[in-house]
Parts: sequence; structure tokens; C-alpha cells
Amino acid sequence: MNVLLFGATGMVGQGVLRECLLDPEVQSVLSIGRAQTGQRHPKLRELVHGDFLDFSALEQDMAGFDTCFFCLGVSSAGMSEERYQRVTYDITMAAARTLAKLNPNMTFIYVSGMGTDSSERGRVMWARVKGKTENALMKLPFKARYMFRPGFIQPLHQIRSKTRLYRAFYAITGPVYPVIRALFPRYVTTTEQLGRAMIKVAKQGAQKSVLENWDINRI
Ligand SMILES: NC(=O)c1ccc[n+]([C@@H]2O[C@H](COP(=O)([O-])OP(=O)(O)OC[C@H]3O[C@@H](n4cnc5c(N)ncnc54)[C@H](OP(=O)(O)O)[C@@H]3O)[C@@H](O)[C@H]2O)c1
Repeated sequence: MNVLLFGATGMVGQGVLRECLLDPEVQSVLSIGRAQTGQRHPKLRELVHGDFLDFSALEQDMAGFDTCFFCLGVSSAGMSEERYQRVTYDITMAAARTLAKLNPNMTFIYVSGMGTDSSERGRVMWARVKGKTENALMKLPFKARYMFRPGFIQPLHQIRSKTRLYRAFYAITGPVYPVIRALFPRYVTTTEQLGRAMIKVAKQGAQKSVLENWDINRI
């Protein structure tokens, strides 16, 4: 497997990158980000890119991949719908359209979130925008595409969120994590479980395109 990874500096992306580097069937990982991850590994190559709404300058680099793990995203807290949509929908679609054109044999895996609103008409802004993004991704001519909807993600292996709000949240909830997991096992996963499930689905496929937190843990 040759993997293209977006969001490798973030919490989910770091988890996915770790599992990719450990998996013998993953031959190479190309990370495209605004900054380097700071990691060194024989399988890892990194490209720093400035304009995430235009990937035309990277087309040669983005060809020849069978898998994309799209972990780039932001929390909607304090954001207008327009700003949140620019990152969540516009950036995702700019990358995905470029990839679909260059790699028709690609499996594209998008990290969305539990509660995503496929109707695009509900009251919750982030859920509508994620729903619109998922729906648009489903229409692109990839070999396969999967929408992963994790709930509460526990970071493992010293992985930290880029988002200050989440870091504070994890600092508070970390010690009580075993209790949260015991009470709500269907809604809780880890960066390791999520990364491993994404790799497994990229290799073997899955019975459905939208995978909820409990599906992720089962896989
Ligand atoms: N954390 C959770 O518990 C959780 C739960 C469910 C779903 N999710 C979803 O998982 C995805 C990743 O979340 P996360 O927790 O890993 O977030 P995170 O730690 O804040 O990381 C965000 C990643 O996206 C990149 N990014 C953000 N805005 C960007 C922009 N304008 N241009 C280019 N890159 C940008 C960041 O790059 P820089 O390093 O350059 O900032 C970073 O790599 C999100 O879509 C989120 O909704 C997260």
C-alpha cells in the first residue's frame, strides 16, 4: 500500500501515521501538510504546501497512490459557518477532486465525526457541513470511499491534539477515560484503534461506506 496522508500533524493523523509506519503492508507514506511532522522514518516522505485550495502544483507528486487517509480538519468551536466550511468542505474537496482525477484506483478514507448530518439540513452547523462534505466525496470516481465517524477519541502513545480546546478536554478526561470507556464503549475509540481500522478497510474494504464509532472498534 502506498498512502497519501493529510493532517499528519494532528491528533488523528499522528495516530494513523504511527500505525502506517508499523504496518509491514504499508510500503510508503507521503504526508502533505502546512508543516513538517518532525518525524523521520524510511517509509515517510513529506511535502509542505502553502495553498490547500489549489493542488495543481503538486499533481505529479500526488499520482501513483492507492490509498488516501484524509485526517485534516478543525473543531467548529468559535468559527463562522463560512470559515468552517472553507476548511472542512473546500479544502477536502480540492484535495479529493485532484486525487480522483489522478488515481482512479484509490481508496479514499475521510475522517468525519459521530453525529454527521447526511441530510445537510439539520440545526447543527458542523454536522451539516460534514454531511455535505461526505455526500460530495461519495460522488467522486474513486475505486472506493469510506466515511469514518469516530466519537470520543482517546489519544495514545504521547499523541497530542493540535487544538488547544481538545488538549484541555483530554487533560481533564484522561484520568477518567477507563470509566468513560466502560460506560459508553460504543462511543469511545483510540487513535490506535482508529488508525488500524482505517488501514484494514483500505486493504480489505468494508460492508458499508459510512462507519460509525462502533463499526470502527469492531473492525
Ligand atoms: N479529536 C477528536 O476527538 C475527534 C473526534 C471525531 C472526529 N474528529 C475529526 O477528526 C479530524 C482531525 O481531528 P484532530 O483531532 O486530529 O484535529 P487536530 O489535532 O486539530 O489536527 C488538525 C489537522 O488538520 C490540519 N489543518 C487544520 N486546518 C488546516 C488548514 N486550514 N490547512 C491545512 N491543514 C489544516 C492541521 O495542520 P497544522 O498542523 O498545520 O495545523 C492538523 O494536521 C477532524 O475532521 C475532526 O472533526 C476528531
